[in-house]
Amino acid sequence: MGVRIIGIGHYVPDKVVTNQDLEKIMDTSDEWIVTRTGIKERRYASPDQANSDLSYEAARVALARAGVRPQDLDVIVVATVTPDMSFPATACLVQARLGIRERPCFDMEAACPGFIYGLELMRGLLSLGDTYRTGLLIGTEVLTRIMDPLDRNTAVLFGDGSGAAVLVKDDSEFGIISTYLGGDGELGNLLYLPAGGSRMPTSEETIKNRQHYLKMKGREVFRHAVQWMQQSALIVLEKAGMSPEDITWLVPHQANIRIIDSTREKLGLPPEKVYVNIDKYGNTSAASIPIALSEMQEKGLLKKGDIVLLVSFGAGFTWGAVLMRWG
Ligand code: ACO
Repeated sequence: MGVRIIGIGHYVPDKVVTNQDLEKIMDTSDEWIVTRTGIKERRYASPDQANSDLSYEAARVALARAGVRPQDLDVIVVATVTPDMSFPATACLVQARLGIRERPCFDMEAACPGFIYGLELMRGLLSLGDTYRTGLLIGTEVLTRIMDPLDRNTAVLFGDGSGAAVLVKDDSEFGIISTYLGGDGELGNLLYLPAGGSRMPTSEETIKNRQHYLKMKGREVFRHAVQWMQQSALIVLEKAGMSPEDITWLVPHQANIRIIDSTREKLGLPPEKVYVNIDKYGNTSAASIPIALSEMQEKGLLKKGDIVLLVSFGAGFTWGAVLMRWG
């Protein structure tokens, strides 16, 4: 039993924040940000926009492109670390906005590889007999709400955005070919959000100590990201009995251009086989891969039969890859 994406869409907020804008408010430079990360600008959600607003816009585009009505959906899953609130799930809020009821809707959290984990989850759900035939998967973040605007180590990296995919069961040769997921909770303390959960509930103290903002040991995260992005890509290829030369497109998580380049080099791919948009959006965590796929679709870059390799790494640590035949 296979699973195929039949429609993909994205939404990014209108507000563009350039490196030059950040130079004015913190001790950083366009030169540092571009050479260390590849980021030139990113999008910020407006104060009245929450995650479900971005998700709804991305979902509308994906459904229209798929030719699927909201009422034809059997399940809605949202992958995010920045939900509107702890509960109800952002997926339920999106369901309400879509004007449908009585479908399962829930959020899942696997940080940056959330969309990759979500694809595997959908693959499982859609294989449960006829219970679910059509699913909506949204990778989406409003990371600017959890990043410290005064911390130059992180504030230059992240942006907001949302990407959505409509998936169906499909027994043809198109769709997901192989998948691989991994994780290592021992390394969770290298990238985390200390306060606001049951371990450290929000208090005046946590706010004073800026513990409601994400913390990252960038250099260590970088090292593990390089290792697992490369390894995940090789594992899904091996599982499929394919080699890097078979890949039409590498669509990596957009966290840092140097991580993307090292993954590409390990696979021996030329730059033109890798889709990169980190310069425009920065790191949008779970949204980065579906936003990239949606842009590629809009630009006519994805052709039926293309072999597309998705690969990601993030907090947890979590990592994974999906190999698919586009169609
Ligand atoms: N502007 C100017 N200087 C800066 C900035 C900045 N914005 N940020 C840091 N620096 C300085 C540091 O203070 C340091 O100065 P020092 O040597 O005097 O102490 C110097 O630049 C080097 O800092 P490093 O952290 O070593 O820089 P590095 O080359 O490692 O780049 C970066 C930092 C971009 C964060 C990189 O480590 C990285 O991309 N890490 C991985 C991020 C990632 O993949 N995250 C995964 C997913 S995110 C998620 O799951 C939500």
